[in-house]
Amino acid sequence: MNIDGIPTHTLRARPELGAIDIIDQTRLPHELHWVRVSTLDEAAHAIRGMQVRGAPLIGATAAYGLAIALGSCSDDAHLEHAIDTLWATRPTAVNLHWALTRMSEHLTPLAPAARLQAAWAEAKAIADEDIAQNLAIGQHGLGILRQTVRRHGTRLNIMTHCNAGWLATVDWGTALSPVYTAYDAGLPVHVWVSETRPRNQGLLTAWELAQHGVPHTVIADNAAGILMREGKVDAVIVGADRIAANGDVANKVGTYLKALACADNGIPFYVAAPRTTIDFDLTEGSLIEIEERHGDEFRLVHGLDARGVPSALHQLPAHEAVANPAFDVTPAHLITAIITERGVCEASKEALLAFYPEVADD
Ligand code: MRU
Repeated sequence: MNIDGIPTHTLRARPELGAIDIIDQTRLPHELHWVRVSTLDEAAHAIRGMQVRGAPLIGATAAYGLAIALGSCSDDAHLEHAIDTLWATRPTAVNLHWALTRMSEHLTPLAPAARLQAAWAEAKAIADEDIAQNLAIGQHGLGILRQTVRRHGTRLNIMTHCNAGWLATVDWGTALSPVYTAYDAGLPVHVWVSETRPRNQGLLTAWELAQHGVPHTVIADNAAGILMREGKVDAVIVGADRIAANGDVANKVGTYLKALACADNGIPFYVAAPRTTIDFDLTEGSLIEIEERHGDEFRLVHGLDARGVPSALHQLPAHEAVANPAFDVTPAHLITAIITERGVCEASKEALLAFYPEVADD
């Protein structure tokens, strides 16, 4: 996607330096700041501290983090240590574990001397595949959005939650890929951007939609219901951090409430996600580990102060107890369809297995 008109990926590999450059998303939307990651600890910190975030981008960063780690030593012990370190950074987005498993299966059988180069090549393959999958999701989503415009006739109002866009992947995004594709195809698309407390990833969505020129309006999370009730939402599209084998979907906390409101208002609720987000090993969503993040994410509000300097305000005293589950699970029966890189599929075990028959052979 474009930043100031320049095509840009969220992650730049610098194998010659044993490093990658990432956008520090904790500083957006106020400041676009690239950070160099050149050690295993920096890669783990980037994921844990959410400088990079979004399931596919977490996976790609972990893959490159492993390549970076092998720069200092590539024996079995070091490989294992690097995988364990990156594996433990965040629990819910399965793309992280998928990418590390793929890297491990590729690298472990190799002689240590061959691992470094192979790791950079495999990480690049993961990043390239992510871009291709997201482009395909965009094409399949476009078909749905064309039908929706035909049915409604006027402006196409899509609501999304969190950031499942370009910033959450290597390029294009998942939930936002159909939006960009529709916009580029000339459809009259407008996006309701849900703020997504407590970390406000909706502001990232607004920032990247603005970079591409897509019309959008930011709303408080709590405004979603009334907009649906007033007929101002044609469809909701969200991303996913993990999809269980039965089609239950873990995504940013608040997703479930939007799915419930969609069901009450007869609005289609779509989840856009690639194969790398589907966890066929988990039979249902209740088994997905939900990350509980630090209470200060909730107690502090970040923004620019009156002088335009980034700062944090305490909206609650430190002793105030808070709960901060980062994700929730939307049951499959509330999901109209899952938009994957292979097409649009019902949220059910049978439909997912029919889309990915090779899973049965694994
Ligand atoms: O905690 P985050 O910001 O990493 O959560 C991100 C989300 O929940 C996204 O919707 C999901 O990862 C899909 S990203 C294409």
